[in-house]
Amino acid sequence: MTDKYALIGRPLSHTKSPLIHSRFAEATNQDLVYTAIEAPVGAFAETVDAFRREGGRGMNVTAPFKLDAYDYATARSERARLAGAVNAMRFDGERVEAENFDGVGLVNDIQRNLGYALKGRRVLILGAGGAARGAVLPMLDANPALLVVANRNVGRAMVLGEQFAGAPNFTTGGYDDLRGEFFDIVLNATSASLHGELPPVPADVFTAETLAYELAYGKGLTPFLRLARDAGARRLADGVGMLVEQAAEAFAWWRGVRPDTKPLIDQLTVPLA
Ligand code: ATR
Repeated sequence: MTDKYALIGRPLSHTKSPLIHSRFAEATNQDLVYTAIEAPVGAFAETVDAFRREGGRGMNVTAPFKLDAYDYATARSERARLAGAVNAMRFDGERVEAENFDGVGLVNDIQRNLGYALKGRRVLILGAGGAARGAVLPMLDANPALLVVANRNVGRAMVLGEQFAGAPNFTTGGYDDLRGEFFDIVLNATSASLHGELPPVPADVFTAETLAYELAYGKGLTPFLRLARDAGARRLADGVGMLVEQAAEAFAWWRGVRPDTKPLIDQLTVPLA
């Protein structure tokens, strides 16, 4: 029987997830259908309940439902707990397991696809919202020399810092604290690019060797990437690889087989211009 999976979110007009999972299923001979369900705001639980009654086996979750999914789950991974958000669920009878693969997808993209080993590197994350929170644990697991989270609202960054208080290579602060510091990898995990805005990061955090990585996907040369380029950074990337890698993690978790990600990343890559 064909197994059912879906993405739940709102709005979903630009989503690539059905395409990605359908290609993964073809490539690995898995008998499944993956659809997009645009649920009404406030109707997350009833929409998921209905999908499960129809035999749904698992779901991806995107805005604005990542916190609803957290509450809906009956079992949450450590990654999901530390991110405080869920982007994948697996259904087994009454049990609803919840995961967050965004951070591991990001780390896999940086290390495997872009060829930047994180071990021993100086890494800066801009932002302290859901996207940044999801990245911290997988980043620390990769043993950077230093991981800094800088946020406009410094208190929010400090709350994140307290969650990882035991990690000696992890610090949090505001944008002013970055003056005079440089980094090997700078990640824009703020939502500034979605509004055409620039986080107030000093240009001297970039060197010619810095990888500047925009977590948003398909926005071209965002103000953040433009700043990095103008500051001399030669390696620029957006979140297309992260998108495909987090999907591959979910697919492997659901189906027990890991699809090859390269063909899809190549297909979905939009030039940074
Ligand atoms: P997400 O789940 O996408 O991370 P979020 O939880 O709403 O969304 O968090 C948005 C992040 O982008 C926050 O870190 C926010 O900074 P504040 O906590 O100071 O509000 C950051 N952000 C949004 N617009 C920004 C801008 N123009 N400059 C700097 N940071 C910005």
